[in-house]
Amino acid sequence: MEIKIKIKELREKIKEYNNIYYSDGESPISDYEYDKLLEELKKLELEYPEYKDEFSPTLKVGTSEKNLKFQKVEHEHPMLSLANSYNEGEILDFIERIKKKVITQRKLRYCLEVKLDGLSISLIYRDGELKRAVTRGDGYIGEDVTENVMQIESIAKTLTQKIDIEIRGEIVLPIENFKKLNESRLEKGEEVFANPRNAASGTLRQLDSNVVKERGLDAYFYFLVEAKNYGINSHSESMNFLESLGIKTTGIFETFDRAESIKTRIEYWEKERYNLPYETDGLVIKVDDIDLWEEIGYTSKTPRWAIAYKFPAKQASTRVNGITWQVGRTGKLTPVAELEEVELSGSRVKRASLHNISEIQRKDIRIGDKVFIEKAAEIIPQVVKSIKNLRDGTEKIIEEPTRCPVCNQELKREEGLVDIKCVNEICPAKIQGEIEYFVSRDALNIAGLGSKIVEKFLDLGYIKDVSDIYDLKEHREEIEKLDKMGEKSVDNLINSIENSKKRDYDKVIYSLGIPFIGKVASKILANASENIESLMKMTFEDLINIDGIGEIAAKEITKFFNIEKNKKLIQKLKEKGLKFEIEKKLDDNAKNIFSGKNFLFTGSLKNFTREGIKEEIEKLGGKNLSAVSKNLDYLIVGEKAGSKLKKAQDIGSIKILTEEEFIALRAELTNEID
Ligand code: IVH
Repeated sequence: MEIKIKIKELREKIKEYNNIYYSDGESPISDYEYDKLLEELKKLELEYPEYKDEFSPTLKVGTSEKNLKFQKVEHEHPMLSLANSYNEGEILDFIERIKKKVITQRKLRYCLEVKLDGLSISLIYRDGELKRAVTRGDGYIGEDVTENVMQIESIAKTLTQKIDIEIRGEIVLPIENFKKLNESRLEKGEEVFANPRNAASGTLRQLDSNVVKERGLDAYFYFLVEAKNYGINSHSESMNFLESLGIKTTGIFETFDRAESIKTRIEYWEKERYNLPYETDGLVIKVDDIDLWEEIGYTSKTPRWAIAYKFPAKQASTRVNGITWQVGRTGKLTPVAELEEVELSGSRVKRASLHNISEIQRKDIRIGDKVFIEKAAEIIPQVVKSIKNLRDGTEKIIEEPTRCPVCNQELKREEGLVDIKCVNEICPAKIQGEIEYFVSRDALNIAGLGSKIVEKFLDLGYIKDVSDIYDLKEHREEIEKLDKMGEKSVDNLINSIENSKKRDYDKVIYSLGIPFIGKVASKILANASENIESLMKMTFEDLINIDGIGEIAAKEITKFFNIEKNKKLIQKLKEKGLKFEIEKKLDDNAKNIFSGKNFLFTGSLKNFTREGIKEEIEKLGGKNLSAVSKNLDYLIVGEKAGSKLKKAQDIGSIKILTEEEFIALRAELTNEID
C-alpha cells in the first residue's frame, strides 16, 4: 500500500513541476533534483509493474498535463542522430571504414559543417508554404510545435518556389540572446538556464508563443530529406538548393577529398567557433555524394555516412579557496565557490556556482580541492568535479551553514527539499532581492535602481521595504549628493518611479514576487480576479479552478496572502497609487461586446500587432485562446495563415473571419450597443 502511495505522490509532484515549467518557463527545482525524482519513479515502476499507469510522467517526459498544444506526430522519415567521435584518429577510422564499404569507383568527397548545439527540428513545406514543424522526439514520433516555430523570424514561412519539401535543422538561441535572457532572469532572482540549448528547448516548449517571439530564437538547416527527388546529387548541392529557396543555413559547408585537409580544418574551427553567433559542440563530416549513402548504409539510429566530431569541453582546472553562501530574494541560500582566478574560454573566472549542498556532497567538493570548472556559453561557470588524487589531507569538508550569513538568523530547510532558507522576514539580503525584483523590467520597470544603489539606500535607511521606493523623492536632496547621482539622474529615477504607477494590474501582481508566479500566471490571475481584494479572498479551491493555475501555485498564493506583512505591504502600495485592479478602458456596455467569446488569430495581421489584437479582444470582454479547440468561437485569419486554419475548418463550428471582417464585426456590435 505504501509503495502505491509513494508512486502516486511522485507522479503528482512531477506532473505539477512539468506544468509550472511549461506554463511559466520556470522550474521550482533544479534539473538535477527533477531527474532524481524521475529516476526514483522509473525505478519503482520497474520494480512494481502492478502499479503501471499509461499516464505516468515517465512515459511522456516533459509534456505538460494541460498542454494539449504539442500533439504527438509520427515522422514520415525517421530523424536520425549521429555517431560521435572525439579525436582525429576516430575520424581517420571513419574514412577508412567508408573506403572499404564503397565499391563504386568514384572519388570520395566529404562535406564538413559545424555541429549546432540546439534542438533538432523537422519542417514540412507544401506548395512552398511552411505547414508543420515537429521536434525530434524519439526519432520516430515528435511533437507538433508549428505554432511556436511560426514565431521564429528567420524561419522562412514561404519559399521562393512552390514546392513540397521536408528539411531538418537546428533551433538555437543565439549566444547574445541567451546572455540577455539569463541576465534578466538573474536580475529577477530566477534560476538561469545552464546553456543555450536548454534555453532554446525550454523556450520552444512555451505555451505562450509570445514568449518565443520575445526571446529571439534562430534556426539553421542542414539536411534536405530525399534530396534525389529534386535532381540533387550531393549534400553540398542540397545546401545551395536550400539557400536558393530562402532557407537559412550556417553557410559553412566545406568539401574536401583528403583526410589531411579535414584535420587542418578541425584545428581551424576549434578556435574559430568562438566567433560564431551560436553555440557549437563540434563538427559534422558527411559523405557528400548522395548516391553512396545507400551503399554505405545506416545503423538503427545513425547514418554510417556521417559522423560528429565533438570539440573537447571548455574546462579549466583551478583551486577552491572557499565557499560563499549567497542569499536570494526568497531567502534561498546558494553556495558559490571562490576560486583561484583562472582563464576559461576567453574570460577570467574566480567564482563558480555549486547549486546546493546536495550537489557539493554528491561531487564531494572540499575547500582546498583542485577542481575542473566548465563553461559552455553560460555566464556562470560550474564546478564539474574535484581531482581527488591531488588531495594532501588539508582539504576541508564544506559544512552546511546553520545561520544566515547576512542576518545571522537560524536557517530552515523545507521538508523534502534540498534548499536551505533564511526565513527572517527582515533579512537585508532578502529585502535587497525583493527590491531588485520589484523594479525589474517585467515587473514595475523602474530604471535607475541597480543593486549598488539599492544597497546604499538600504544602508542609509531610505528604503526598508519596496513601498518606500515611492517616498524616495523626500530624500531628493541627500540623494543628489551621493556619488554618481546628479540632479538629472535623480529626475530620471523619480520619473521612472512615478511612471511605474501606470503599470497594469498583472505587472503589479508579478512584482509582488509570489513564488512560482511568473509573467503568464500573473496575467491569468489578473484576468480571473479583476482586483486584488477578490484575489486575496480566493481559496485554494477557487484558485485551482482557474485554468492555468496548478496546486503548487495555488498553495503559494494562499500562503502569500495569509502573511500579515504581505497584507500590510499591499495596503501601503495601494495608498501609493499602484494599480490593483484591471483597467476598464471602455464603458461597461461597449466593453462586453465579446463577452463569453473565445478568439484566436493566425498568420500576420495588417492592422494590429500580435499583442495589440489580444489586448483589443480582452478589452472588449473576449478571451484569447492559445490553440484551436471546440471552445473556440472565432478564428481571425491574417496573411500566410498556419495550420490553425485547417484545424478550425475541420472542427466546423468555428467562425472564420478575415481581419477586415473582424473589424466590421467589432463596429457592428459596438453600434448596436450605442
Ligand atoms: S545531420 C541524417 N548536421 O546533432 C542527418 N546534424 O548529435 C543527421 N546537429 O540530431 C543530422 N548540427 O540535431 C546534422 N550540421 C549538422 C548538425 C546536426 C547539429 C544535431 C542534430 C542531430 C544531432 C546528433
